[in-house]
Amino acid sequence: MATPVLADSVVAMNTLAAPAPRRLISDLDLSAASVERLLDLAGRMKRTPLRYAQSLAGRYLSLLFEKPSLRTRLTFELAIKQLGGDAVNYAGPINGREPVRDVARNLDRWTHGIVARVFSHSTVEEIAKWTHVPVINALSDLYHPCQALADVQTLEERFGKLSGLKLAFIGDGNNVAHSLMLTAGRLGVHVAVATPKGYEPNADVTEEAREHGRITITNDPAEALDGAHAVYTDVWASMGQESEAAQRMAAFAPYQVNEEMFSKARPDAVFMHCLPAHRGEEVTDAVIESPRSVVFDQAENRLHAQKALLLMLLS
Ligand code: CP
Ligand code: NVA
Repeated sequence: MATPVLADSVVAMNTLAAPAPRRLISDLDLSAASVERLLDLAGRMKRTPLRYAQSLAGRYLSLLFEKPSLRTRLTFELAIKQLGGDAVNYAGPINGREPVRDVARNLDRWTHGIVARVFSHSTVEEIAKWTHVPVINALSDLYHPCQALADVQTLEERFGKLSGLKLAFIGDGNNVAHSLMLTAGRLGVHVAVATPKGYEPNADVTEEAREHGRITITNDPAEALDGAHAVYTDVWASMGQESEAAQRMAAFAPYQVNEEMFSKARPDAVFMHCLPAHRGEEVTDAVIESPRSVVFDQAENRLHAQKALLLMLLS
């Protein structure tokens, strides 16, 4: 869809040096410089939201969700509305009534950007292949880049810096772990992932993340937790893995983030979770409800980080 006249704040933002990113399918689609610029913009948008109230006036976003969502769907809809634009939702199967490439080419004609949550990562890649407008991965089986942006914003707010921090991810080497390895790792956070044997992060993603940052993969939670500023966990069975839940429950039980596990990190460590959380499984009620839990700061920052992302991609 054609680009309307840019609002003042968008023009001002474009005068900054880094080249404008065009999509966010994998975390690496944003350069480290772009992520730093996004974090700065997200902070300014959080402090002075009304300044940006018309920045994307007349812009429309397509929201395609193959899986359930509370945070991602609502924060994208709120984000575009708070920037003066609007969103349309499609909840049906993306690959049901017609080929993905036809769905993509329809949305490309009507809206200025596409946000897609998909089962298979290849679906969001296929959408991007057939469209000219920016495409945003709202979670695939491989990555959850929007979550990682809000997470690094939360860490920076809490510790005043990112470089030199250590984040221990305890549990499944899944989409959330992958995006943290890529996004936080590139910003100087040592990401240490502890999983049961057989549930380590994808080998290709690990290799890629190691090209850009310090990554430890271990089966020993104590090794990951030693000196950690943040302890992160996620569900043991992700959406689409429900049939493996019982088998996973047994394998992951020793990796529950309970008070004893949490105490192995630094005394000022924060607890992080992308949510939704399964209390009594990957985390205990005591840890997620403790004063050191920042899970709702993370959820809040989904909105601010995505507002900054939309402004960068759609302008
Ligand atoms: N964290 C996250 O992506 O939440 P939703 O699944 O509710 O969008
Ligand atoms: N790993 C989880 C994240 C949910 C936000 C999943 O994919 O279901």
